[in-house]
Amino acid sequence: SHVPVAVVGAGPAGLMLTHLLARSGIASTAVDLRTRAEIEQTHRAGILESDSVRMLVDSGASDRVLRDGDEHRGIELGFGGGRHHLDFADLVGATTRLYPQTDVFLDLADARERDGGDVRFGVADVEVGDLSARTPAVRFTDADGVRHEVTCDYLVGADGSRSACRRAVPADARRQYVREYPFAWFGILAEAPPSAPELVYHHSPDGFALVSQRTPTLQRMYFQCDAAEDPDAWSDDRVWARLQAICGSNGHELLEGPITSRTVLPFRSFVQEPLRHGRTVLVGDAGHTVPPTGAKGLNLALADVRVLAEELERAVRDDDPDHLDTYSVRALERVWKVQHFSYWMTTMLHALPDASDFDLRRQQGELAAVVGSRAGSTWLAEAYTGWPTTTTG
Ligand code: DHB
Repeated sequence: SHVPVAVVGAGPAGLMLTHLLARSGIASTAVDLRTRAEIEQTHRAGILESDSVRMLVDSGASDRVLRDGDEHRGIELGFGGGRHHLDFADLVGATTRLYPQTDVFLDLADARERDGGDVRFGVADVEVGDLSARTPAVRFTDADGVRHEVTCDYLVGADGSRSACRRAVPADARRQYVREYPFAWFGILAEAPPSAPELVYHHSPDGFALVSQRTPTLQRMYFQCDAAEDPDAWSDDRVWARLQAICGSNGHELLEGPITSRTVLPFRSFVQEPLRHGRTVLVGDAGHTVPPTGAKGLNLALADVRVLAEELERAVRDDDPDHLDTYSVRALERVWKVQHFSYWMTTMLHALPDASDFDLRRQQGELAAVVGSRAGSTWLAEAYTGWPTTTTG
């Protein structure tokens, strides 16, 4: 069969793209190796920029985000023995919302189902054909063991940080930029009341911790760990002792409870350029990943999708794939700003394994310079709540 747009990956980026295309009358097929249940059970970040919220609401994908997503006016930074509040609403007139990525996915999957969108979860053996062909192909095996081939005018790789579409681009036609970090995150879900009304990012001599929330009875927290750490080697008591030590050094005592999920989350900074090859484009984590500090991954993917939907509509209308170059250029402009922000938040807040006292005190100076200056705080607030997406009429 043939569709105008085939999408590999039916996470939030792939689904949001097909949702927007459908609203413009462009048909698509999306496939994902994972089942819907598997995606629903993968815990990811929980903070939406104001434009991500607007996109979910204005596109008709979710009104639940306004009902169930708690609006956050700002964040706190803990360092040097105390906690310092940044009020984004006051600084830049914008806020964020706590709305987990799993809920964004649920709303989009429901919207596609409601609208009769062609989304196939749980397929096997996905292969992308020759990307330089006039009609690139996606092949996959469905749940009944039947092999399918879908050809398309435009192929979208929305298949995440281990993207097969990205790897299908010939090596001489792309450039990769990588930055590794000598630490990972230990992430937990705990059945406990919230320890703070909004997010608290802690810097300490024992490294980084983040106090986030999910519901009045379920909390999300992270602390810096070694990437080789075995999560099952950490009892509840050991996890709480580490978290209390980091947060306690800034005068923040946590409310404890049973830990229901523990995972070690390695990360890196990565970009593949360009985001277009022939009639194929990369969107979201398939094209770039950021470290999690600052919760930009999903927001950046949705920002890509805003631009890509616009340029794909032009490409289909004009039968001209060169609009995809415009997508790549426009998207990368934001990608590199967000790469910088996520790198900056990460390196400002984490302890390097061989950090000296100088390094620790310098980071405290950096944090003091941010919270002690309206200009410094405003820059962080702008980046955290999300730079506006420039749309071209
Ligand atoms: C969450 C994750 C992040 O990486 C972040 O910066 C903020 C919040 C979260 O899971 O709630």
